[in-house]
Amino acid sequence: MDEAVRLAVDGGKVIEDSQEFAAANGFAHAELVGLCKSLATGGFITTEATSRQSLQLTKEGELVVTSGSPEAVVFGCVPAEGGIASEELDQRAGAAAKVGLSKAIQNKWLQVVKQPLSADELAAAEAAAAAAGKKKAATDRKLVQRLVGSVEDAVQAQLRAAKGGSPPPDAELAVLKKRGLLAVATVKALRVAAGPQHGNWGRKPASDLTHEMVLRGTWRDALFKPVNVDAAGVAPAGGALHPLLKVRSMFREIFLEMGFAEMPTQQYVESSFWNFDALYQPQQHPARDAHDTFFIKTPAQTRELPADYMERVRATHEVGGEGLSDEFNSRSTGWRYDWSEDEARKNLLRTHTTAASSRTLYQIAQLAKANGGAFQPQKYFSIDRVFRNEALDATHLAEFHQVEGFVIDRNLSLGNLMGTIADFYRRLGPEFKHMKFKPTYNPYTEPSMEFHCYHEGLGKWVEVGNSGVFRPEMLRPMGFDEDVQVIAWGMSLERPTMIKYGYDNIRDLFGHRIDLGMVRKHPIVRWT
Ligand code: PHE
Repeated sequence: MDEAVRLAVDGGKVIEDSQEFAAANGFAHAELVGLCKSLATGGFITTEATSRQSLQLTKEGELVVTSGSPEAVVFGCVPAEGGIASEELDQRAGAAAKVGLSKAIQNKWLQVVKQPLSADELAAAEAAAAAAGKKKAATDRKLVQRLVGSVEDAVQAQLRAAKGGSPPPDAELAVLKKRGLLAVATVKALRVAAGPQHGNWGRKPASDLTHEMVLRGTWRDALFKPVNVDAAGVAPAGGALHPLLKVRSMFREIFLEMGFAEMPTQQYVESSFWNFDALYQPQQHPARDAHDTFFIKTPAQTRELPADYMERVRATHEVGGEGLSDEFNSRSTGWRYDWSEDEARKNLLRTHTTAASSRTLYQIAQLAKANGGAFQPQKYFSIDRVFRNEALDATHLAEFHQVEGFVIDRNLSLGNLMGTIADFYRRLGPEFKHMKFKPTYNPYTEPSMEFHCYHEGLGKWVEVGNSGVFRPEMLRPMGFDEDVQVIAWGMSLERPTMIKYGYDNIRDLFGHRIDLGMVRKHPIVRWT
């Protein structure tokens, strides 16, 4: 077939109609089309889809060509002399009988006459009618007789001619179509001509330029498949951002837009002092237990802690504000226990990024002191890892991320805190527009509030964070004035990411069991 196609398009010749070409050569048309498609990709030929209307004989039409039109068949069943009873004609002519008789009558080839029954026949007909339960019996019979001696089957002749490619004039054509003997069909075919690579017929074109072709110089004589600019490209194997990182950049952008600066958070290993004590978290607090906290074996203790600040923290834990200021003292009694420096020096993996906030706040206080007490209002955020000795399940990991933030200024209120958090979520997207604040307890904030978002997609309220106003027991030992307030919050990074990306198991999103292909599966993603 390949050779036949090559010869047919040689020397500027074309295959005008693949259907006719296939019929003439005894090829299956579908196979020929398949071959042409692959030859065309190689550039050996060019193809063009064509479509034309063609007259085709129906099954009935084919029957007329072989056995004659129904009217001719019926005519042939009628004897030249005398005629035939119509029942008998029905039997002889079979399928052609009904249409054939009416056409033959129309053509004035045959006629039907009524003939009275003889006395015997009448008696027999009455007996048969009575047996069948009919009241009346027929009194005559129908007889079919010839009107002409012979006929010419024009319909058969027209169909034969049409099959041979010369259809009859329009009037006759319309009649044949109406009788369902001929139909118009759309014929789809290919017009085939030689392509730019015709001279290379038989050579297999390469689809890629290889390293070896370049090295050996064989690319010069190589035959290449034409470039298909519509083909889907190979997915680039380059880096892709993990969903958590995308959400992190989104959060970071929002904080920066709101005028926040980023805190340094590189310190995964932290002392108990900055993680707990500086936050006025008593040393007996259950969260400081090894069940909830990963302690570090080497080095087990931290060496550098600011001595005077540590003494003020000790005093506040033990007896409250004593020795700091009269007003503060009268409002705070401390936790009333013997504070242990040894306990404060224990190293751990930070359990919250609030450890970074306590360090940053202490720095701000030190700076204010160095500037002769001049205090600058500030807004800080961080997004980084924290570690907790948790039982792992679908919503808990031992290593996860926190989004932390605080605002320090004079005379801040709970309203400022709620407004700042609500502003953040409003900027995050319409799915976080409904918020609810709920009182809670933290050792280092008073008042404290959890905040929840109504998630439209999940159809329920989801807790997204925890917040509060830092207690004077935390801020006063650092050296801040009494009217300086800090509003602060901490929230999850994983939870909103899971909601956004439709994960119900945190272990599919983060940790050692994730499917790395997942990262690539998320193309360019925008938060809203
Ligand atoms: N540190 C708290 C937590 O881990 C969050 C928090 C931060 C609460 C700041 C109040 C203020 O859940």
